[in-house]
Amino acid sequence: MTLADLAYRTAKPWLFRINDADAESAHEWMMRRLEKVSHSPRRQSVIRRLMQIDAPEPVAVFGLSFANRVGLAAGMDKSARALHAWSALGFGHIEAGTVTWLPQPGNPTPRMFRLTESGAIINRMGFNNPGAQALARQLESVGKPDVPLGISIGKSKLTPIERAVEDYVASLREIRRYADYVAINVSSPNTVGLRALQDRGYLTELLAALMAQTEGVPLLVKIAPDLTDEAIGELLSVLTDAGVAGVIATNTTIRRSDICAADQHWSAQAGGLSGAPLRSRAREVVRFIHTETSGALPIIGVGGIAHADDGLAMLDAGATLIQLYTGFVYGGPQLLRTLIHATSSYGVNGDE
Ligand code: FNR
Repeated sequence: MTLADLAYRTAKPWLFRINDADAESAHEWMMRRLEKVSHSPRRQSVIRRLMQIDAPEPVAVFGLSFANRVGLAAGMDKSARALHAWSALGFGHIEAGTVTWLPQPGNPTPRMFRLTESGAIINRMGFNNPGAQALARQLESVGKPDVPLGISIGKSKLTPIERAVEDYVASLREIRRYADYVAINVSSPNTVGLRALQDRGYLTELLAALMAQTEGVPLLVKIAPDLTDEAIGELLSVLTDAGVAGVIATNTTIRRSDICAADQHWSAQAGGLSGAPLRSRAREVVRFIHTETSGALPIIGVGGIAHADDGLAMLDAGATLIQLYTGFVYGGPQLLRTLIHATSSYGVNGDE
């Protein structure tokens, strides 16, 4: 156990006590601390030393080089407040956002619930974010992290679905110069109508407009786990035709399976479920995409990764990179470290 793990373990019982009242306050508390780290090179170097992460073989994908396979999933740091802290902790890439063109407050609170016995979260944040222009100002002032930065963009709540294309394009134009890749979020369950953008007609039009505006930045599309295999198959043909660089699978689910009895009272909360109950479906979707595309479309696998084996299984299913959200909430820096080490030699002995 490193000192960073010890610090996390000491704070965790307290963070989870706040959680009983309001999980979002615990998140905000942690973000403020990480924001301080992000402004302090001295604290970053202390954390790097405490984390003791060796540099494995870099992984090349989307025309980028990743120091390791484990990234931070979208939604944890929507407005890029703590980029340098995430990279000091060891994350091999960071996906900031989701941001929208218009600043928006998101849904009324409470909107984030921890299902502790199930290792899960239900959230209906609704893209609370300061808007793409504010994100661009933030990135200008804090500078790029030393690991690849993805920026996730979504549709503003007030923009009707018929005008979604211009809304996404406006965000893309604003943030593209700061991004190593851009993730198109058409899969959050918390913005009414958003997931209809995964349908062939809408998606074809959206991707054509976005691909014309990338200026060389790779575009990835993040998909929902609740699509049928048939719908995913159709979506993949749209992605391939559009020439996107990759796919991120998956976002949270609206299903409510695999929740422990002790957490059943949370099931009725509206929103997307993440963490352990999502694990097998997310992995299944990754395997399906890998098989359908014969491995031609690089995949970032995300959903329910909470142990080293989950990370390895996601790579076995066909992912090149993986991301964490809920697992990191419950497992902290220890999980990150374990995963980086467990996945560092993946593929080196021909197991990819
Ligand atoms: C998310 N997720 C998410 N995804 C996204 O593309 N944009 C976003 O803004 C958010 N916001 C968000 C908030 C909260 C509170 C959670 C728990 C999740 C989804 C996240 O990136 C990931 O795809 C899923 O959570 C599945 O991974 P885990 O959490 O099981 O590791």
